[in-house]
Amino acid sequence: MKVKRVIYPGTFDPITNGHLDILNRALALFKKVEVVIGQNPHKSPLFSLDERKALIEKSVNFNRYVKVVTYRGLLVDYIKKGEKAIFIRGLRVVSDFEYELQMAIMNRKLNPNVETVFLMPNEQYIFLSSSMVRDIVKFKGDIGRFIPGVVQQALLDKYRSGNLG
Ligand code: COA
Repeated sequence: MKVKRVIYPGTFDPITNGHLDILNRALALFKKVEVVIGQNPHKSPLFSLDERKALIEKSVNFNRYVKVVTYRGLLVDYIKKGEKAIFIRGLRVVSDFEYELQMAIMNRKLNPNVETVFLMPNEQYIFLSSSMVRDIVKFKGDIGRFIPGVVQQALLDKYRSGNLG
């Protein structure tokens, strides 16, 4: 399969060092990665799509090998007809597996030109999630070493201003 595009999709509400760890692993394998901020209809994000995009761009220092886009709709429709693509997903713990397998198989059924590649984060990020990060900052806990500085500041600003999405 000659891959045209490598896509790392997610909600990224907000991006964490765990996501960055996966992204860096993907960049070690592929020249360019598109981070696609998609819509999970079961989530009500704290940050707007544009805020999440800006946070990711700043967190990767505007790396020219990382393109960050927002996308509304089915992820497989982000790929042009006939184009071959890889979706990168992080696998943290066994409980991720069932949901990820379901999504990977469904995406492949919807578009056989899409393959999902799973990468495992560094073990220090195995139990990290965006909602955990949001909760800890909300209740004034220290999560600094698990998120980029810009994200920590953005979360503090959100909770201080009461502008909760
Ligand atoms: N580090 C830290 N956290 C991680 C992580 C890592 N390496 N890998 C996963 N996570 C966490 C996320 O922080 C998130 O945590 P939260 O739920 O507490 O916020 C959770 O794992 C899973 O989120 P995410 O990876 O963002 O995926 P998602 O389940 O929200 O799915 C899309 C997002 C965009 C990929 C999916 O909804 C989608 O494809 N939407 C488009 C519609 C579509 O095509 N649907 C058909 C799918 S078959």
